[in-house]
Amino acid sequence: MDNFTFSQPTRIVFGRDVENRVGEEVRKYGKRVLLHYGGGSIRRTGLYDRVVASLEKAGVEWKELGGVQPNPRLSLVREGISLCRRWGADIILAVGGGSVIDSAKAIAVGVPYDGDVWDFYSGKAVPEKALPVGVILTIAAAGSEASSGSVITNEDGLYKVGTGAKCMRPVFALCNPQLTCTLPPYQTACGVVDILAHIMERYFTPQRDVDFTDRLCEAAMISIMENARRVMADPNDYNARAEIMWGGTVAHNDILGVGRRGDWSSHRVEHELSALYDIAHGAGLAIVFPAWMKHVYKYDIPRFKQFAERVFGVSSDGRSDEEVAVEGISRLEGFFNEIGLPTTISKAGLPVDQLDTMAQKCAQGSSEVGNYAKLTFDTVLRILELAK
Ligand code: NZQ
Ligand code: ZN
Repeated sequence: MDNFTFSQPTRIVFGRDVENRVGEEVRKYGKRVLLHYGGGSIRRTGLYDRVVASLEKAGVEWKELGGVQPNPRLSLVREGISLCRRWGADIILAVGGGSVIDSAKAIAVGVPYDGDVWDFYSGKAVPEKALPVGVILTIAAAGSEASSGSVITNEDGLYKVGTGAKCMRPVFALCNPQLTCTLPPYQTACGVVDILAHIMERYFTPQRDVDFTDRLCEAAMISIMENARRVMADPNDYNARAEIMWGGTVAHNDILGVGRRGDWSSHRVEHELSALYDIAHGAGLAIVFPAWMKHVYKYDIPRFKQFAERVFGVSSDGRSDEEVAVEGISRLEGFFNEIGLPTTISKAGLPVDQLDTMAQKCAQGSSEVGNYAKLTFDTVLRILELAK
């Protein structure tokens, strides 16, 4: 096991109706809050009105900036930074999913920074200071409510890139599973795939001696899949929604990644799909992850065999290790299809004539992508070919 430091400073308040406390939570960090949200789901569900009522009751002044799109854009981040500076916001409240939270984090690091906020994403600078970010989570997926990362799309060149720093972890996250009952099945499914992907990116590690976290990851994957089936059958199943929401936070708050190096190349490759075609992140991962597995399993058949046996209960009776490993990949793909997500680029209705461009953008700036298996331009292209 590798040495590690683990710190999870986000205060998670979880359960029914917790969003109604938002005013008092925000008040702890200042008097002026920027209310940041997406394309309108929070207005349709009535959440917006409850949030505003709670802020007003707590005597908090607020201004709002809605319109965050899935795959959040740099231009809105810049607008948010200038609004917060002009008005003197003390805290940013993200009400939504990963896109809104990531956009809020980008505004938060941009406000105290003298240069251009994209510097943090292009690798020119490292975020050291940020305004506090609070969250009301409305979709279980990205885990951004307790992660240190943010992923933003720069419209100029269609670059979707992530950055991360300690100061970017939200100070609080109010997580009410009831709020996720209004999600369309497609978004629920995308969220489930992203959660599984966050676990698998950590699970497939070159580090051998990580039995405790291996088994936590395996249990987490089994639970997410079981509860996803329950939610697909009954979208209003509170307890299944709750399991997935908590699972989504734990999948990406790093507790499953301690002592081991994650891979993250499927995420890197997926970001190219999202950047070019504006596809939902989870939908992109449903395509990329199985293809990545088909390419890399030969590097480490025992680990893929373990995955197949422990997560999917694949029997090794009468089968070679390789056959068991391959069966695990095909069961995962089957699960993605079962919850309604296609697992190839063409079945997702996207063109396949830009694979080269995507591989180039993915491999540019670093000679290798990933840790479990080091990928180069050629191997990224091969994975995209497998995903066709
Ligand atoms: O914009 P609105 O109208 O609110 O609609 C959203 C959006 O269209 C809708 N939605 C959210 N909650 C809803 C709802 N609709 C009905 N009822 C509700 N309760 O769902 C759509 C998707 O929202 P989005 O925030 O984009 O989803 P998600 O949480 O999957 O976030 C995806 C983004 O997070 C990034 C991804 O790359 C992607 O840009 N990620 C961020 C990470 C991080 N910061 O740690 C890690 C992840 O790997 C991921 O890369
Ligand atoms: Zn993800």
